[in-house]
Amino acid sequence: MRTASGHRPGREDRRHYRGAVDHRDLHAAQAARWRAVDPLLPPPPAPRPDPMGVPGGHGWLRRTDPDPRSVAATWSAARVHRLDAHVAGDDPAGALGALLDRCEPLLGPAGDQDSTVEVLWPSRDTAPVLALNRRGFGAATVIAVRRTGGVDAPTPAGVRIRPLAPSDVDTATELHLGIVRFDAQFGAVGERPSTASLMREELAGRADGADVTAWVAEAADRMVGLCEVDPPDRAGWIAPLCADGPVGYLSSLYVDPAVRGGGLGAALHAHADAALLAAGATRTLLHHSPPNPLSTPFWYGQGYRPLWTSWRRRPAVLVSGSPPSGC
Ligand SMILES: CC(C)(COP(=O)(O)OP(=O)(O)OC[C@H]1O[C@@H](n2cnc3c(N)ncnc32)[C@H](O)[C@@H]1OP(=O)(O)O)[C@@H](O)C(=O)NCCC(=O)NCCS
Repeated sequence: MRTASGHRPGREDRRHYRGAVDHRDLHAAQAARWRAVDPLLPPPPAPRPDPMGVPGGHGWLRRTDPDPRSVAATWSAARVHRLDAHVAGDDPAGALGALLDRCEPLLGPAGDQDSTVEVLWPSRDTAPVLALNRRGFGAATVIAVRRTGGVDAPTPAGVRIRPLAPSDVDTATELHLGIVRFDAQFGAVGERPSTASLMREELAGRADGADVTAWVAEAADRMVGLCEVDPPDRAGWIAPLCADGPVGYLSSLYVDPAVRGGGLGAALHAHADAALLAAGATRTLLHHSPPNPLSTPFWYGQGYRPLWTSWRRRPAVLVSGSPPSGC
């Protein structure tokens, strides 16, 4: 028999897993649970060697620090501990909790405000998540999904939506920073010294690109909205998280506070959706922050639903008695 990674377990592997539930059974049980709750979930990642083993669970803790010179560093802590887990049996929450407890001594140094511990878990596989809640994790971001196409929303009177041009890049960067600053209130993201210049670079690339992947909205002579997408040929980094596809990604949407609630967000989304459909996408993914009181109802009103939830605790190790810095 071969595992999901195509690797035939030998004597060496069996020694690793002696005394614990067989890793193939765990993987198969979790895969069956995921299939039952959500047809858009891919199978869990294949078991890797040397898991932490607990009754009903195997886990792998790794560092996934973002490159500090990349925009990704804006959307995350600087030091990221990530737990991947397979949990099954009568008490998946107990198994995940035991794995999290095994990780605790490995998450230091205590009080590092720019560190996080993260578990990315299918939103609909709710069985184990109480273990995260009880250890101080919160739902920091959600990857939501919608079938691409069929978004129909008129552009509000007095507004023009058009492709991003090179001369728009400075203003568009300010709008994009507006998303970061708004979402930063909820803790998952934060502006860094490099954020503005990296965003400007990214937008300049889009404005110069052969394909239209960004739009701005103009009212009178003022820019009041921005939307960006990654068509399937640029969305390969997130496509493996969805079992259906081709996948397109909606990377930003921002509307000036003065004109919110008048249908511009929906109109920009309609442009993005039509472009992704034309580029061959059948599923659109996006990230949002669940406590964001504007984006969360907006996206669910637009037909998205949660696919993955990123549960995070930041800092990774809380120090009791010392308040977090910066608030
Ligand atoms: C999320 C965001 C882009 C929505 O933009 P918006 O222009 O306010 O969106 P819309 O006007 O199309 O829809 C917002 C609400 O107004 C309502 N609305 C739409 N057209 C309307 C109209 N003509 N008259 C009155 N209300 C209207 C919608 O029903 C919607 O209500 P709901 O949220 O209860 O469903 C905007 O709030 C924003 O920029 N937020 C800050 C940044 C952010 O969170 N970005 C998303 C990152 S994931």
